Amino acid sequence: EKGGYEHYMRKEIHEQPHAVRQALSGRVDEFAGTVDLDLSISKEYYHSLDEIQIIACGTSYYAGLYAAELLEQYADVRVSVHIASEYEFRANRDPWRTLVVAVTQSGETADTLRALRKADGAGARTLAVTNTVGSTMAREADDTVYIRSGPEIGVAATKTFASQVTTLTLLTVYFGRQRNTLSSNEASTILKELSDLPGAIQQVLDAESIVRETAEEFADSDAFFFIGRRFGYPVALEGALKLKEISYDHAEGFASGELKHGPLALVTENTPVLAILTEGTSAHETLHNVKEVESRGAPAIGVSSETDLNPVFDTVLEVPNVGLMEPVVANVYLQLFAYHVASQKDRSIDKPRNLAKSVTVE
Ligand code: M6R
Repeated sequence: EKGGYEHYMRKEIHEQPHAVRQALSGRVDEFAGTVDLDLSISKEYYHSLDEIQIIACGTSYYAGLYAAELLEQYADVRVSVHIASEYEFRANRDPWRTLVVAVTQSGETADTLRALRKADGAGARTLAVTNTVGSTMAREADDTVYIRSGPEIGVAATKTFASQVTTLTLLTVYFGRQRNTLSSNEASTILKELSDLPGAIQQVLDAESIVRETAEEFADSDAFFFIGRRFGYPVALEGALKLKEISYDHAEGFASGELKHGPLALVTENTPVLAILTEGTSAHETLHNVKEVESRGAPAIGVSSETDLNPVFDTVLEVPNVGLMEPVVANVYLQLFAYHVASQKDRSIDKPRNLAKSVTVE
């Protein structure tokens, strides 16, 4: 049941601190800097690994982009991220040295399943990162890691994004330790930041009324743009997807630096730009892009942990300092923003038009 919430989506947004704790539970030794995910992969395999290919759709694809940054940085492995419906296993790749990771909340998405089967057919090792025990992909992949979000009813994925990123961060630490690219001290730092994530998300949830006011102020805009760099880029894409999905407004996410290569032509006084400026997002560089949109008259909303940069913005949604995980916290603001814009317009938030929770057609 909705437990007093008007929509499942808002309930699920509020369940994120718990969902993240569940994903971490029993898997982490913060002091030793180790992670246990119960995988059946051999030590030699980690060392011979040449490439990780991530396959996913929608929000899970954005979690995959996030994970790619992490894996490249901490596990020192080449990572490519594929929209599942576009995926092919190329003949020039060595299947024995390629790990294909399917990221899928439902474990049933037809596009992702087809991609997983292509990888399997080519002889690659496969791993499913999913929420759903007993799902087709959990059964078909060589290994499965559960994100442990609990059931998500709202068509818009919310808590499962936080759980996916948390679990993929654990996977990164695990790989980094197995491949000796991450020291136990560095691993401990990341694990500490992960354990601080639920509290930081709770702080944002406690500030919901500020987001609601901001959403109400801008609800009638012509379009909404979201910008970010590095870890802020998948979050910008995810923020835009959430808004378009449930409010039916035009929303786009861009890599901040790309604005000037075309999208800037869309920016007017009536297109607010939400910019992500946190740890891991090259915030000072994005600041230049914020100034570009402001000089075209666009309202700039900062989702920011960088207090020295905040005076630039018309509105600031403050992200608490939790290091590496700050972009995930920023994403909670974007979920609430989308929710309150849609709620202001009285949309069918839990079941948006034309969409299904699990997309089982190709
Ligand atoms: O179950 P999956 O994670 O495989 O689903 C993938 C997408 O269909 C899903 O994330 C979709 O984009 C959501 N409705 C986004 O909110």
